[in-house]
Amino acid sequence: MKEDDTMLICTANDYNGMSRKAANIISAQIIMKPNAVLGLATGSTPIGTYLQLINWYEKGDLDFSFVRTVNLDEYKGLDPNNLQSYAYFMKTTLFDQVNIRPVNTNIPNGLETDIDFECKRYNTVIKSLGDIDLQLLGIGTNAHIGFNEPNSAFEKETHCVKLSPNTIESNARFFENEDDVPRFAYSTGIKNIMQSKKILLIASGKSKADALYNSIFGPITPSVPASILQLHNNVTIVADEDALSIIKEKGLL
Ligand code: GLP
Repeated sequence: MKEDDTMLICTANDYNGMSRKAANIISAQIIMKPNAVLGLATGSTPIGTYLQLINWYEKGDLDFSFVRTVNLDEYKGLDPNNLQSYAYFMKTTLFDQVNIRPVNTNIPNGLETDIDFECKRYNTVIKSLGDIDLQLLGIGTNAHIGFNEPNSAFEKETHCVKLSPNTIESNARFFENEDDVPRFAYSTGIKNIMQSKKILLIASGKSKADALYNSIFGPITPSVPASILQLHNNVTIVADEDALSIIKEKGLL
C-alpha cells in the first residue's frame, strides 16, 4: 500500500481480490450516504466489482433504492438494446439485479444525433445531481478514462469523441469484428471527472501496467489522460499485482 496526502494505492493479488476491495469501497459509500451519486464505468474491469455488490444486495447488506448513478460514456449510434451498448451493459450487469430505480440511472443517449444537444443535456443532468460522491474508473491501455482519449483537453465536459485506433482495437473483442466498433462516443470530460468528490480507479492485468505507471508516476500531460488524477485530492487506486508490475519492478511501491 502506498499512501500520500491524496493518492492511495491498494494492491490486490488478482482480479477477484481487486473486485472485492473495490466493491467494499463502493459499499461503504452507499452505507454512509444511501442517496449517494455514483459515477459508474463499463468495460470488463468493473464486472467483478458489480457482481460482488449484487451479492451483498442479495444478502440484504446493501440497499440501492436511493442511490443515483451517472455513467461515464456511451457509444454514439448504438441503441440501448444493442448488446454492445453501455446502456445494455449496465442494465444487465448491475441495474436489473439490484433495487436501483431506473429513473435514478443516467447514461448518455447514444442515439441522439444532435451532438450539441446531447452534450448540454448530459452536463445538465450531472450538475442537477450535485457533485458525484464516488467516481469509479477503469483505465484504457492508452491511459484513457471514460472515453477521454490521449491529447483531449483536460478542461472538457461532456463531449463527442472520435475513438483512437488503439481503443477501437482494444474494444473490438466485444464486437463480431473491428468494423462494427462505433467510431464515435459521448463521454463525460476530464473536468466532470475531476469535480467528483472521490475517485476510485481499478485496474487488472499486465496490459494496464504501462498505463498505470505513466498515470501515477509520469508527467501530468494530456497525452496520458489519467495522469490528471495526480491533481485530484482524493483518489484510491485498487489494482492487482499484474497491473502494478512495472511500478513494483521500479521499486516505487
Ligand atoms: C472502455 C471504456 C472505459 C474503460 C476502458 C477499459 O474504452 N470507455 O471506461 O475503462 O474501456 O476497458 P476494460 O476494463 O475492458 O479494459
